[in-house]
Amino acid sequence: MVNKISIVGAGRVGESVAQILAIKKLTECIMLIGRNEQRTKGIALDIQETASVHQFDAKLTGSSDISSIKNSNIVIITAGSPRKPGTDRTDVLATNLKIIDEIMDGIIKYAPDAYVIVVTNPVDVLTYYANKKTGWPRNRIMGQAGILDSMRMSSFIAMETNYSINDIQAMVLGGHGDTMVPLPRFTTVGGIPIEHLLDQKTINNIIQRTRDGGAEILNLKQKSSAYDAPGAAVTIMVEAMVHNKHRLLPCITMLEGEYNQSDIAIGVPVVLGKNGVEKIIELDFTDEERQAFDNSAQIIKGLIKEI
Ligand code: 2OP
Repeated sequence: MVNKISIVGAGRVGESVAQILAIKKLTECIMLIGRNEQRTKGIALDIQETASVHQFDAKLTGSSDISSIKNSNIVIITAGSPRKPGTDRTDVLATNLKIIDEIMDGIIKYAPDAYVIVVTNPVDVLTYYANKKTGWPRNRIMGQAGILDSMRMSSFIAMETNYSINDIQAMVLGGHGDTMVPLPRFTTVGGIPIEHLLDQKTINNIIQRTRDGGAEILNLKQKSSAYDAPGAAVTIMVEAMVHNKHRLLPCITMLEGEYNQSDIAIGVPVVLGKNGVEKIIELDFTDEERQAFDNSAQIIKGLIKEI
């Protein structure tokens, strides 16, 4: 357990993260930062009042003052404008870049020793920006996307096959966008690659549905993007760090030559423990996989040029 985790951004993703962190008993103090002080205090209090049901002792606090993140072990950034139906995750880049810039100033000033998890979209570009702005070692600033995308892929496989979700392990790398790279070769049910269990057409449909996973939720809900699954995904990263689990998970990290890429943040398999990103695992791609990964990297690099 760590003492304090701050979540900057009191929208639905931030709220979901706060709630699950409390339920999983991952920290003593949860600080939720939102623009609207009263509303943010209300969210924190509402979750606090579930403590007797979930039997947690964490103290939740809401604040609009970024200096309240002081002494945080981990800071999670969920603030920003979500995308609207019919738009792309990158359409919010200019707006969210400004927001992240301001938040990073606060983190540098008030929580200079914290580990940082970026969730705001376009998450790969903003994870890159946060790394560049701080100049901190890359193990400390990472982005969440691949866990969410892999959770979605696992769900679709479970729906398609009726096998237990407990036995399904999916792997989605690359950028968190239309060019993300679901990898059937590294996706298994009970250790068996799905290529042995499903025909190619079904696998292709699952891949496409995974790529469209965020848009599918947005189109159904209309007024909100996903928040339950993104929130849950973030807590997997926090849990791996807090309990020093050395979990092997797809996360966004800066590459310095791995996968023949550098000066980019993109989703790759990493080992997550108390030191954040402790290791990057390089996979031997087939030509097709490499092409898909490089294509995704190109798209992110194009966006990085804009900032
Ligand atoms: C998602 O994939 C909005 O990026 C978020 O649901």
